[in-house]
Amino acid sequence: MRPQSCPLPSALLPLLLGLCSGTSFPTNINIGGLFPGDSHEYEVFRFALAQNQDIPKLVPQVDMVDTSSSFAMTYAFCSQFSKGVYAIMGLYDRRTVNMLMSFCGSLHVCFVTPSFPVQTNNQFVLQLRPQLQEPLMALLEHFYWTRFVYMYSSESGLAVLQRILDTAAERSWQVTSVNLDSLTEPAFIKLLADLDYKKDFQIIIDCELKRLNYILNLKRNLKNYHYILANLGFLDLNVTEFQKLGPNVTGFQLVNRSDPAVQKINQNWLDFDNKDLKVARRRLKYTGALTYDGVSVMATAFQNLRRQRIDISRRGNAGECLANPPAPWGQGIDIQRALQQVRLEGLTGHVQFDERGHRTNYTLTVMELSHIGPRKIGFWNEKRGYVNTAIYRPMQEEFYNVQNKTYIVTTILEAPYMMLKKNHEQFWGNDKYEGYCAELAAEIAKHVGFTYRLELVGDGKYGARDAETKMWNGMVGELVYGKADMAVAPLTITLVREQVIDFTKPFMSLGISIMIKKPTKSKPGVFSFLDPLAYEIWMCIVFAYIGVSVVLFLVSRFSPYEWNGEESDDEDETAQGQNQNQQKEKETPEYTNDFGIFNSLWFSLGAFMQQGCDISPRSLSGRIVGGVWWFFTLIIISSYTANLAAFLTVERMVSPIESAEDLAKQTEIAYGTLDGGSTKEFFRRSKIAVFEKMWSYMRSADPSVFVKSTSEGMIRVRKSKGKYAYLLESSMNEYIEQRKPCDTMKVGGNLDSKGYGVATPKGSPLRNPVNLAVLKLNEQGLLDKLKNRWWYDKGECGTGGGDSKDKTSALSLSNVAGVFYILIGGLGLAMLVALVEFCYKSRIESRRMKVRSEKCTSTELFGPSGLGGENGRVVAHDFPKAGAQGLPCMSKAAGLGLSSTGM
Ligand SMILES: *[C@@H]1O[C@H](CO)[C@@H](O)[C@H](O)[C@H]1NC(C)=O
Ligand SMILES: *[C@@H]1O[C@H](CO)[C@@H](O)[C@H](O)[C@H]1NC(C)=O
Ligand SMILES: *[C@@H]1O[C@H](CO)[C@@H](O)[C@H](O)[C@H]1NC(C)=O
Ligand SMILES: *[C@@H]1O[C@H](CO)[C@@H](O)[C@H](O)[C@H]1NC(C)=O
Ligand SMILES: *[C@@H]1O[C@H](CO)[C@@H](O)[C@H](O)[C@H]1NC(C)=O
Repeated sequence: MRPQSCPLPSALLPLLLGLCSGTSFPTNINIGGLFPGDSHEYEVFRFALAQNQDIPKLVPQVDMVDTSSSFAMTYAFCSQFSKGVYAIMGLYDRRTVNMLMSFCGSLHVCFVTPSFPVQTNNQFVLQLRPQLQEPLMALLEHFYWTRFVYMYSSESGLAVLQRILDTAAERSWQVTSVNLDSLTEPAFIKLLADLDYKKDFQIIIDCELKRLNYILNLKRNLKNYHYILANLGFLDLNVTEFQKLGPNVTGFQLVNRSDPAVQKINQNWLDFDNKDLKVARRRLKYTGALTYDGVSVMATAFQNLRRQRIDISRRGNAGECLANPPAPWGQGIDIQRALQQVRLEGLTGHVQFDERGHRTNYTLTVMELSHIGPRKIGFWNEKRGYVNTAIYRPMQEEFYNVQNKTYIVTTILEAPYMMLKKNHEQFWGNDKYEGYCAELAAEIAKHVGFTYRLELVGDGKYGARDAETKMWNGMVGELVYGKADMAVAPLTITLVREQVIDFTKPFMSLGISIMIKKPTKSKPGVFSFLDPLAYEIWMCIVFAYIGVSVVLFLVSRFSPYEWNGEESDDEDETAQGQNQNQQKEKETPEYTNDFGIFNSLWFSLGAFMQQGCDISPRSLSGRIVGGVWWFFTLIIISSYTANLAAFLTVERMVSPIESAEDLAKQTEIAYGTLDGGSTKEFFRRSKIAVFEKMWSYMRSADPSVFVKSTSEGMIRVRKSKGKYAYLLESSMNEYIEQRKPCDTMKVGGNLDSKGYGVATPKGSPLRNPVNLAVLKLNEQGLLDKLKNRWWYDKGECGTGGGDSKDKTSALSLSNVAGVFYILIGGLGLAMLVALVEFCYKSRIESRRMKVRSEKCTSTELFGPSGLGGENGRVVAHDFPKAGAQGLPCMSKAAGLGLSSTGM
């Protein structure tokens, strides 16, 4: 295969330019390049040369070659040498490395390479990649591995294999070595199964990134395994899939990604305008970083040579590389020395070579893959060996802790914590959201001093572990798998979550509470003044009233002391008129009794109404009746008055349920929880008798009392006319209570207690400052203020408490309307009765008038008359006599057997 040649125009006249410059030192230095066609290293090489604007300018002279072909490599090498390059940069292969080294050694041309290191004393090959034997040995010692599998690629791993086998022999380790190049894919799978069987769980894999990615991403059960990756690009691996399996992986990282200089170059690299490249650029891999450092080393070396005015011009023997015997290039040794003496801080840390052209004085970071992603556990350098830092300072020196970065805050739409503004289309970024958590996040960011971006969780879940795949979903998953840096949401602090992420102190405390439909306020009825006493009592009072009146009537009838003789009234008259006296003596004395049935009723009523009455019993028996009735009345009226105030003023809210106990001991009102939430779990797990009883009811209830979502539960409460109670977290309960149509309410205390916390990934540098910020906000009372703002100030139901107090302060007309109705009714009745009396009386009168029209000329229409005797006084006398005796107009009533005498 013919190597492609792509000489650049400026490379054609190196010598000429060198001469024209007037000094012996050329301003353009030709650099050869030997790279496979589409390699990452070649791209970085071009990028590095383009970045490097120093004098002398490095001019590339690249050949795309197949690095595994000795012929192509030889041809390319020689053609570049004959064109007068000062040094060559490139890659080699197991098959071409020896050929290359012998050329370099014999021609004194330096070859700078990011390829795998080889054990050689050839000083003309400068190997940028640090050797891994020592760090690997140190790590094995640290982990006390004595029995393990070493998987290597024959490409690069032979030197390490040699070292391992030597040590194993020395310390009698059991090492199984596996050459990955010699295995087909099925054989490899079989090998892994074999390892499972033999319980060989400790494995070192030594190969290039591509194959490593493949091996690691084979879906397998990796629970018990511990891998050590003998590769310098731990962070270059694609572990997004792999880390979910939770394996134990340790590896090395050469490039310090959190170094600002490295980040800057990486950014330039990503922005580098490369027209040949169609796919999106990836980060610089560690091999790219090595290439970049190689170019830096060359640039520095030639600058030094120029400063020292060393003549490196290639006069004369411009490169017969296949001459026999080969003629070494005279100035080659100067260039070699200059390159070897370079010291600089590059992408791969401190760059320094020993006299054999190997890297020395370098530091490797040792990392492990934890369930939240790669983290640093220590470092290795020649001087100190392996130093474990994980125990002492686990958090501070994490690689992914990038300064000045915009943190991603995951959250979830849940009113009133996080809501989209009504006109959110007009906003951008964080401004689109509003709510308790939106403000909380802003406050925390202000206190801690970072910028953040709110992002809604992809799957809209809070976070639980899938039983089968053991994967976390929701916001917890985003934190665990490194997609977000913080979660600010109503996320409950629980044990299982705390095991995989960190929570701050709770920013809100809450518990399970009961939501019921608000009992409709009993409108004060017109006859609400009857309410203080039960219906039965009123009935009893009526019967008692009638009973007492009847007893009084009877007692008065029988008791002789209740009867008054008429004569006593007329004693003064007897003295005056003897004639009249004689007349009276002829008649039987007239006895009256005040307590007729009507007067008895009147007396009882007067007593009951606390008004008294101007007749009262004179007999002992009558007084006993009156006394007990008064006593009865006293007690009844006092009780009534005592209750009246309360009943008239308070609009009673008759709530059937006051607590969980109330719920548990009834069956009329159904109750349930969210299906598959922590509330349901609480009841399932509870050992408290009341909750156990509730759980056994809920579990067996038909139809199901569990609902799919909080809003479904809320709707069910509203629609069930008080026959369904929903158990949910108190903060949500309080919020819904403040939402229209304001017909739900929270009753009773909280059944348990828990908190919402801000979550960060385990070991996040944000954890401590955020925790402090939350505590501070709490102490400043800002959290309470936020809660008031989002629950009550923005509530739609007004402040329930204040209103109802106002209402109780005054009685409304409706409370006492019934009294007015009775008054009006009584007045109306009285007038009606008066009318009836009048008509009746006038009919009687007119009949009498006809009979005695001669005798009585003037009709006294408006005489004292009463239907049935207005006072119910009973007069016992001889009717016929009385009829003959009485005054003409008065006796008409007496003729009916009714009293005509006014009281
Ligand atoms: C990593 O691997 C996953 C799946 O294996 C893939 O979806 C993702 O794009 C890869 N990422 C990179 C940076 O290669
Ligand atoms: C990972 O390996 C180290 C060393 O063998 C061991 O201490 C640690 O417990 C392992 N971790 C897991 C999760 O297996
Ligand atoms: C990486 O770079 C950062 C920033 O310069 C520095 O703080 C940290 O110590 C470096 N880590 C290592 C392992 O050198
Ligand atoms: C090793 O590198 C450090 C800089 O990282 C340098 O200060 C020190 O002198 C070097 N040691 C040797 C022995 O060259
Ligand atoms: C941090 O970000 C601010 C604003 O984006 C910028 O002005 C500042 O230079 C950045 N600092 C660093 C160290 O990148």
